[in-house]
Amino acid sequence: MINIYERNPAVNWVILGLALLIGLTSIIYTNMLVNRILEQEEKQIALFAKGQEFLATAEPSENLTFLMEEIVGSNTSIPVILTDENRLPIGSRNLDEPKDPQEKEAFLLRKMKEMQEENPPIVFTLDSISNMHQYVYYENSTLVNQLRYFPYVQLTVILLFFALVYALFSYSRKAEQNQVWVGLAKETAHQLGTPLSSLIAWVEYLRLDDAIDAEIVEELEKDVKRFETITARFSSIGSTPTLKQEDIKEVLEESINYLQKRVSSKVHFLLHIKEDELLVPMNKSLFEWVIENICKNAVDAMNAVGSIDIYVSHTRDEKGLVIDIKDSGKGIHKSKLKTVFKPGFTTKKRGWGLGLALAKRIVENYHKGKIFVFRSEIDIGTTFRIILPKG
Ligand SMILES: Nc1ncnc2c1ncn2[C@@H]1O[C@H](COP(=O)(O)OP(=O)(O)OP(=O)(O)O)[C@@H](O)[C@H]1O
Ligand SMILES: [Mg+2]
Repeated sequence: MINIYERNPAVNWVILGLALLIGLTSIIYTNMLVNRILEQEEKQIALFAKGQEFLATAEPSENLTFLMEEIVGSNTSIPVILTDENRLPIGSRNLDEPKDPQEKEAFLLRKMKEMQEENPPIVFTLDSISNMHQYVYYENSTLVNQLRYFPYVQLTVILLFFALVYALFSYSRKAEQNQVWVGLAKETAHQLGTPLSSLIAWVEYLRLDDAIDAEIVEELEKDVKRFETITARFSSIGSTPTLKQEDIKEVLEESINYLQKRVSSKVHFLLHIKEDELLVPMNKSLFEWVIENICKNAVDAMNAVGSIDIYVSHTRDEKGLVIDIKDSGKGIHKSKLKTVFKPGFTTKKRGWGLGLALAKRIVENYHKGKIFVFRSEIDIGTTFRIILPKG
């Protein structure tokens, strides 16, 4: 089994791991910063409380009063509420309180509750004789709160960034594969063109020669026709093929006829279709290629004895045509139902693993249809389903 395109999935995990590592480091680092700022804020609040205490009690010298006012005033970021002995607010700082006095009181009381949950209020004694107390309620500054969320924001951004890079990467990989397919097909068609036209001329020439058996010429002509079809296929896949209204029954019958002659007579093809003229836009030579690839796989899967049934019906919304190709082969394992369409996946000694990848390309890219394994059971058989839009 070879797989020429598959990328090592470990790479994806390494990339993701790296993203998480960066995110985690950032979370730890920011947390450290937050803790340091919190420590500092705590100290600042303690100092603030001390200042309040001092201003309220002592009869200090002017210098000291000035210093304490400076300390109290220097807190421009930490929200604080000062309360009296009965825990009624008597002052606040760095809070957007409402103007209305009643609303303001309710607001401050509510805020005090929130603050208490975050940090225990600082108590200081106003008067050592009567043992009066005041309380300082405080919460973390908005800076700390914002900083706390920052690493999560950062982690999201990093993950989004990696997702974007990954999407771009796989897109460019697909585009590259596309170029290889198209380029190779074009080149092949081009190279086949010259010997083909010369062969056609030779057949014409031989037809005129009475000495040569007409039957031989006819056989030769058939092969040349086939050669022409193949070249047309390569040429269509190398460009944007035009779709024409084709009768699906006719197309399928032609493919079956062609295949039946080339496989064992113990393989029975049977076409199940009710309508006689069922037109659907398609590129005939490419679509026949799809049918041939699927049927050849079916023949391989059944060791040249069995049946291939092709059913044509309509989708429920009547907008598409359903073509089921059912074989009595060895089946595909559940885990491989999608893998079989990957270029390079094969279980055959002489396989390239290109048949189904090509079929998928033709159906999806050129006909805007769908192709998938509809059902498969080991040793019973497989049904491939193609859905073609009716227009
Ligand atoms: N009808 C089927 N029944 C069982 N296995 C299938 C069937 N069709 C495809 N497979 C599995 O899918 C694989 C891929 O098929 P695909 O046509 O893409 O490549 P291949 O037939 O191996 O080689 P190539 O078509 O390029 O000569 C096959 O090797 C086979 O294992
Ligand atoms: Mg094949």
